[in-house]
Amino acid sequence: MKALIRTMVFSLGIVGFSVSAQAESTEPHAKATGNPEAGANKVMLCTGCHGTDGNSAAPMFPKLIGQNAKYIAKQLHDFKGEDGKEPARPSAQMAGMVMSLSDQDILDIAAFYASKEAPTSTTDASDEELAIGERIYRAGNMETRVPACIGCHAPNGSGNALAGFPALAGQHAAYTIAQLEAFRLASQYPDDNSKGRRNDGDGKMMRDAASRLNDRELAAVAAYIAGLR
Ligand code: HEC
Ligand code: HEC
Repeated sequence: MKALIRTMVFSLGIVGFSVSAQAESTEPHAKATGNPEAGANKVMLCTGCHGTDGNSAAPMFPKLIGQNAKYIAKQLHDFKGEDGKEPARPSAQMAGMVMSLSDQDILDIAAFYASKEAPTSTTDASDEELAIGERIYRAGNMETRVPACIGCHAPNGSGNALAGFPALAGQHAAYTIAQLEAFRLASQYPDDNSKGRRNDGDGKMMRDAASRLNDRELAAVAAYIAGLR
């Protein structure tokens, strides 16, 4: 019986694989890719806040330089709010910026930023704060069930390009704090879409992680991330 189950699971696995492989090849947008050179001409409007090449200098404007394309494209679609739906990530500043971008523009812009090197990292946080941040980043907090960030955002903070998990290393601490607070706020108001950030999917992985961080841990992990390389 056990052997039979094993055979069934195995063959189901094979079936699952061939079905998904087929679905991918017949999917209309499967071949759509971004062109970084085309993207370079489409970011003129963005440089005022995000800097040339996306290496923003102002702490409230996220660095985009070196971010993975899948994550950037998802955020731009989330700011836009398509098919008559509310934007999954409402932002007064970004809504107007993405309004007229086509799907191809989004792919090209994402490819442009992804083609760059990761940002340089700086932090002036104290050793004590960095140690708290490092512990959260690498191990989480067992007592309060904060998950380790490392699992999804990688040991060096480079994220996971295939999965579209964002790179965090070198990001402005003020921006990271704002996002973690926004995820936390959304988890406190699950039924009020006007509050916080909730575009982390049905698994709510970031709302859940951020809701378990206390203020000290939240600021410390943001400082650690800013200095991560
Ligand atoms: C007026 C300033 C401003 C301009 C111009 C602007 N942005 Fe932004 N952008 C922001 C702010 C502020 C945020 C953070 C929004 C938030 O916290 O939700 C942001 C967030 C983003 C993010 C999400 C980054 C992340 O790490 O999640 C992307 C991607 C982005 N902008 C791309 C662009 C592109 C592409 C353009 C040009 C078409 C552009 N922005 C123009 C201010 C701006
Ligand atoms: C299970 C996977 C997972 C874990 C664990 C996780 N994250 Fe995330 N994180 C994500 C995903 C996925 C997103 C992007 C959500 C989206 O598509 O908007 C994200 C987004 C973020 C962002 C927003 C980045 C930006 O540019 O706006 C920050 C900041 C962040 N995570 C920090 C953390 C920290 C700090 C921890 C540990 C306490 C952590 N994450 C743990 C998966 C995870």
